[in-house]
Amino acid sequence: MPVSFTLNGVAVQHDGDPAMPLLWFVRERRELTGSKFGCGVAMCGACTMHLEGTPIRTCITPVSAVEGKSVTTIEGLSSPAAHAVQQAWRDLDVVQCGYCQSGQIMAATALLTQNPAPTDTDIDTAMRGNLCRCATYHRIRAAIHTAAKTLAG
Ligand code: FES
Ligand code: FES
Repeated sequence: MPVSFTLNGVAVQHDGDPAMPLLWFVRERRELTGSKFGCGVAMCGACTMHLEGTPIRTCITPVSAVEGKSVTTIEGLSSPAAHAVQQAWRDLDVVQCGYCQSGQIMAATALLTQNPAPTDTDIDTAMRGNLCRCATYHRIRAAIHTAAKTLAG
């Protein structure tokens, strides 16, 4: 039985190995390469996508786990919170090498969708699983506050 689910609003099917990591399916079969492979063991957040709006580590998520559900990648991210985050990322020039930033934006958008006025502690807690080897953490935190102000205004 193929695995069927929604990817960025489009119905998709996977008729290969149901244990294939979702990240592989999205990058190799759907050619959506914004989500990155970092550690492969759920430790860095580079592969973060949303499953029903909740951030997940797709390097360890088998395709079979998303049967009948809705998956969103960085390519399909579109909401007031997402747009505020993307604008703040540009305005504060958050990105350095960029490798982690798709995952950072997915995590930040999920945070602001659930909590539109996060404290520093809320931000640190929500974002602590998303590592950045360029250490852009201070700009990420500032950009999330900027995005929160945009959403409030
Ligand atoms: S590649 Fe998935 S958490 Fe690092
Ligand atoms: S911007 Fe380089 S790893 Fe985060």
